[in-house]
Amino acid sequence: MDGIVASATSEIEGAGTQPRRAPPCTFVVFGGGGDLTKRLLVPAIYNLACAGLLDDRFSIVAVDWAELSDEILRAQFHEALRDFVAKRGTSATMLRDDVWRWLDGRISYLRGSFEEMETFERLGARVGDGNAVFYMAVAARFFGPIVDHLGQAGLTNEAGGTYRRVIVEKPFGHDLDSARELNTRLLATLRERQIYRIDHYLGKETVQNIMALRFSNGFFEPLWNRQNIDHVQITAAETVGVEKRGRFYEGTGALRDMVPNHLMQLLAMTAMEAPVSFDADAVRDEKSKVLKATHCAAPEDVVRGQYGAGSIGGVPVRGYREEPDVAPDSRTETYVAMKLNIDNWRWAGVPFYLRTGKRLAVRKTEIAIHFRHAPYALFRDTPVERLTPNIMTLHIQPTEGVTMQFGAKIPGPTVRLGGVRMKFDYSEWFAEGPSTGYETLIYDCLAGDATLFQRADNIEAGWRAVQPALDWSERAEAAPLCPYAAGSTGPAEADALLARDGRSWQSLTD
Ligand code: BG6
Repeated sequence: MDGIVASATSEIEGAGTQPRRAPPCTFVVFGGGGDLTKRLLVPAIYNLACAGLLDDRFSIVAVDWAELSDEILRAQFHEALRDFVAKRGTSATMLRDDVWRWLDGRISYLRGSFEEMETFERLGARVGDGNAVFYMAVAARFFGPIVDHLGQAGLTNEAGGTYRRVIVEKPFGHDLDSARELNTRLLATLRERQIYRIDHYLGKETVQNIMALRFSNGFFEPLWNRQNIDHVQITAAETVGVEKRGRFYEGTGALRDMVPNHLMQLLAMTAMEAPVSFDADAVRDEKSKVLKATHCAAPEDVVRGQYGAGSIGGVPVRGYREEPDVAPDSRTETYVAMKLNIDNWRWAGVPFYLRTGKRLAVRKTEIAIHFRHAPYALFRDTPVERLTPNIMTLHIQPTEGVTMQFGAKIPGPTVRLGGVRMKFDYSEWFAEGPSTGYETLIYDCLAGDATLFQRADNIEAGWRAVQPALDWSERAEAAPLCPYAAGSTGPAEADALLARDGRSWQSLTD
């Protein structure tokens, strides 16, 4: 049953209206000379320009401390764009010269320190009286000082109907207390509606599709509860190691890096109640509610792992402790699996198992909804373990789509059951160009739609759900570090976590 044949599909409102051109704006990027800007922000802005969604009065001001000129920066952006198109498009010639020329003339560089008032005074002259977005593509320690300075320089004042918005990247805090402190600090200068806290997972089409799937279809929602669902598994497996981020990662680890933000977003989208509308606050209210009901019961519900040497795709790779800027006796986890409970009427008694790790056998992010078995009366002679479990898998990346697994009669004179899969694959139904995932987020911020951004209470609720696990991880006896080989499916202890409940993880390598 693999691959239903794609045919023309209808478009329905919500999806049907063409997005309008965003209002004029000066897009200021702190950390404008850095990697995130080149790899993701500039390609996303280029894609928005290709789609005709940027106003003629759109411009970019990159602020950074490096010795650069407008010309050098533009050349670097151009090269990064060529790279992006070559890697993600079908051919390098796809870079549109007309669009690049349009963008090129709108890019300027401002050299300065993020901690000196003088930088912000000069920035004020560039920004003028119009709309502005300030994007923090910088290390987290600069978020507070930059916003303080923007405020002191009067750059956050929304006079005469203009807007001033700030986009904050992750990590938003280091734990619940520091996230609260950062919220308080930002809110001393900005109003909540001016703050756009980004989680790049919400820029992924497949993540946005979770809500569309659940709330635009009649047949899933009645099944989406404790009566019918046995448990849920959320996986974010990566093959990459810590790359050049050893210094950052040592103080962060897999739990902080992935769980309170990305995995909690996936959990919230899967488990939230239907919002009363798609209005930003209605959606964010529901996410906060479900995250507030989410908790981890005991230290034995958390497994922390660290990769040792191994091989990925046949290529030998070193262990975490041998990575640059990593302590040889590091206790930082590169893998975490945990069992969470959601204490509300819909989900009581339905565990949500999460796992994420670096240097695993495959790259795969997915949510698997495991339904309860049907009563077996008709198939008394079929051993229970041979009945195909009903699983709906939402494939987030790199496969993008949805699979339903169920049992069907194997053709033949006797009644025998076989497991089959029905699959929806994004690429078979929709033609989309290469994108970074930041297009929607940037466009929404320019247009003032905060639905896909996190409100202060969402961020804090995510941290609150993992705070006990962070506390336990401080105590070696409560949170042992379990080794796993690079290229494997993770530590054996993570399998034991589910086996204890009579369950097992979806295969990573299928
Ligand atoms: C980032 C983490 O937020 O997300 C990285 O800091 C991780 O460590 C990345 O690799 C994963 O993002 P994606 O989009 O590749 O799943």
